[in-house]
Amino acid sequence: MKNDEWLTPPHVLKALGAFDLDPCAPIKRPWEMAAQHYTAQDNGLQQPWSGRVWLNPPYGAEAAKWLARLAAHGAGVALIFARTETEMFFEHVWSKASALLFLKGRLHFHFVDGTRAPANGGAPSVLIAYGAADAEILKSCGLLGAYVPLATQQTQGDD
Ligand SMILES: C[S@@+](CC[C@H](N)C(=O)[O-])C[C@H]1O[C@@H](n2cnc3c(N)ncnc32)[C@H](O)[C@@H]1O
Repeated sequence: MKNDEWLTPPHVLKALGAFDLDPCAPIKRPWEMAAQHYTAQDNGLQQPWSGRVWLNPPYGAEAAKWLARLAAHGAGVALIFARTETEMFFEHVWSKASALLFLKGRLHFHFVDGTRAPANGGAPSVLIAYGAADAEILKSCGLLGAYVPLATQQTQGDD
């Protein structure tokens, strides 16, 4: 399995409600993450984004580009590891996001065939809201964790 193909646990998506777009989705997927998907074949970074976006981006250095795009878009939720000290976190999360939900425990991601990985992801995860509406959703979604509102003023829309 490619390193990137770690899918969001479905209970997390379910708790957050319907999304309009997943710009980085698997080509073959066991469930829908959003109403519309872009895959590696489309290159989601080069496509127009609209509506409420779900973002569990490709890992590594690439992730910063995706977070920057969602921060500019201004409406949606991202899921990344809670590496709060990194350049990426300071540039695209602390300074631009509307709220955070630090999830309790560690997530078990899923394989592209839908099965749950036996081991957890090895690090804590955080959900990041961009925009006031998604901050409210994180606050009331029912996922266990620590909710942290941020004072950031969001700039809406890049598309
Ligand atoms: C960490 S997985 C998350 C999958 C899905 N978004 C989810 O939440 O379950 C990242 C996904 O990004 C896809 N991907 C990698 N590069 C991409 C690109 N340039 N454009 C769109 N998707 C891409 C991978 O194939 C992989 O399915």
